[in-house]
Amino acid sequence: MRKSNLMKYQKTFFFIVLFILSSTLLFSQKRSNLSLDPQKAEWFKEAKFGMFIHWGLYSLLEGSYKGHTLPDTTFANGRSWYAEWIQARLEVPSKEYKALAGQFNPVHFDADQWIREAKNAGMKYFVITSKHHDGFALWDSKVSDFNIMHTPFKRDILAELVSACKKYGLKYGFYYSHWQDWEYPGGAMPHWMDRVPDDEFEKYWREKSLPQVKELITLFDPDLLWFDTWDEETHITEERRDELISLVRELSPKCLINGRISYLNPGENIDFLEMHDNRYPDKIMDKPWQTPATMMHSWGWHANDFNWKSADRMIEYLVNNTSKGGNYLLNVGPKPDGSFPIPATRRLREMGAWLYANGDAVYGASPVRMEVPEKIYLSQKTEAGKSYLYISLAANFESVVLPIPLTNDIQECKVLESDRPIPFVRNSENITIHIPENLYKDNSVQVVRLTLKTPLID
Ligand code: GLC
Repeated sequence: MRKSNLMKYQKTFFFIVLFILSSTLLFSQKRSNLSLDPQKAEWFKEAKFGMFIHWGLYSLLEGSYKGHTLPDTTFANGRSWYAEWIQARLEVPSKEYKALAGQFNPVHFDADQWIREAKNAGMKYFVITSKHHDGFALWDSKVSDFNIMHTPFKRDILAELVSACKKYGLKYGFYYSHWQDWEYPGGAMPHWMDRVPDDEFEKYWREKSLPQVKELITLFDPDLLWFDTWDEETHITEERRDELISLVRELSPKCLINGRISYLNPGENIDFLEMHDNRYPDKIMDKPWQTPATMMHSWGWHANDFNWKSADRMIEYLVNNTSKGGNYLLNVGPKPDGSFPIPATRRLREMGAWLYANGDAVYGASPVRMEVPEKIYLSQKTEAGKSYLYISLAANFESVVLPIPLTNDIQECKVLESDRPIPFVRNSENITIHIPENLYKDNSVQVVRLTLKTPLID
């Protein structure tokens, strides 16, 4: 081979290698944008209890429009009749709905008070609808004028809430309706309306959805983003899902992403799973997860919805989820004037009081793989070299039998809130704990704490 030819081949070879190297690098970069870092979700796993807020223009209508009131029952006629869906359900003309912006003036809105209420309720994080399906943004968005700055209120609600969360040490995140948008042409519409052609959706996706997500991250640096789809075929293809995940990963090293980014196909790269509304799994899940839950039927404020759940019932949901390794994201639908409904505040304070006494059984606790009767919920923790097993009793048990063999030394058996020892007996396979009469007759969830020599299961 002649020397010049050899050099030519060497050169070509060099370029081929360079091409392969750079494309591998590019490819791995793309992958790492999608990739998951479970460490990031540690705070979420420990937090267990968060506040969800649904608030927007729909709140002004309080569940009724022109003499029609949305049913307050679950899935009447096979549909959910949530008040934040009023525009679609009661067919409010778009012009009329948009004109509600001219009335939005929540004079009693006080971010400090909301977040203090969340903190006192024992909640560790806060998630608000930055934009729900109606397309209205609660922040000063440069992407779309359909936002809070174009109302008489003219205050950036998200900015105020974010600084209150920082002040009180709560993590914070935003619900963002990336798929449904009933205001912007091309945004997905409810399933009983005409399906939007995909090329129009693509336009909405590029012009509003992705730019607003980018804006939310760059302006507010959220700890999590709460996307919303459900079990319907959607425009959220794998490509769009991954494009959105990569966007978030590129802009924020810490922001968690929920599974409803694509409910039917969340893939491997989301940070936590989002259950269906008000669904409480009965088994332990390996990935972090949460249940978004309502206090009444509706998420958005509905003045004629009387389905308030009791604080005790909600505490049971919280301990149930804790015992399966998940979180409880409990919603409040603030009123048009910006205040929390009093029934919501009462329940938040009752839950906060319960957690003040029993929070050790919840925060940072992990599940225990042990068969127990219904209405008993277990969690465990190891702290300062001690192993604790928490037994939350959501029914009137006179005694409780647990399969803890004699080989595991039980150092203490106490009522958690009073720190008083209670009697128990053991045989080679079981422990039987006797619950004092006044406790088992008390209808609130009681917690017994066992101090063990070794953790049950890690
Ligand atoms: C459903 C509803 C929506 C609500 C959400 C909360 O997706 O359509 O209105 O925001 O559940 O989990």
